[in-house]
Amino acid sequence: MKTLAVCPGSFDPVTEGHLDIIRRAAQLFDRVIVLAMTNAEKRYMFSMEERLKMLRLSTAEFPNVETDSYQGLLADYVRTRGASAIIKGLRAMSDFEYEFQMALTNRKLNPAAETVFLTTTAELMYMSSSLVRQVAALGGDISGFVPACIIPIIEKKLQITGGNP
Ligand code: PNS
Repeated sequence: MKTLAVCPGSFDPVTEGHLDIIRRAAQLFDRVIVLAMTNAEKRYMFSMEERLKMLRLSTAEFPNVETDSYQGLLADYVRTRGASAIIKGLRAMSDFEYEFQMALTNRKLNPAAETVFLTTTAELMYMSSSLVRQVAALGGDISGFVPACIIPIIEKKLQITGGNP
């Protein structure tokens, strides 16, 4: 049987840290769906459409990775697609408590899917979408933080909004 994993996140925007996790997941599973979702506690700089476009461009090189977006419960999406795993990246222990809580909630909602935690490459541990947004909004160089192909999209957004969500 072919293995299918879902790698969910806000991806506001996708970073090299995310891509590191996606790359590893794509080596472990036959197919990976990278899923742009909404975290009700966050305000987003980029629309869902923009986040998905950046994901599509950034993952184009991986033949077994596809992208999608969903506004509902992750557990429902995973069930509908018949996926057996949810992939999460862990950067530091500070991520753990929240991720552990989400993993247990998702297991309760969909016992058929297992959450798999992958550890980020040490050099990328500090990276986050919020850091990228801050550096970009203040005119800093974000090359090396995000894939080069999405930098024009981030710059265009900043020209329009000045970095405000
Ligand atoms: O990149 P983020 O913001 O840490 O991703 C969090 C996200 C979007 C994966 C999480 O908030 C989520 O799964 N949202 C979808 C709604 C849902 O299923 N909520 C219950 C999760 S326990």
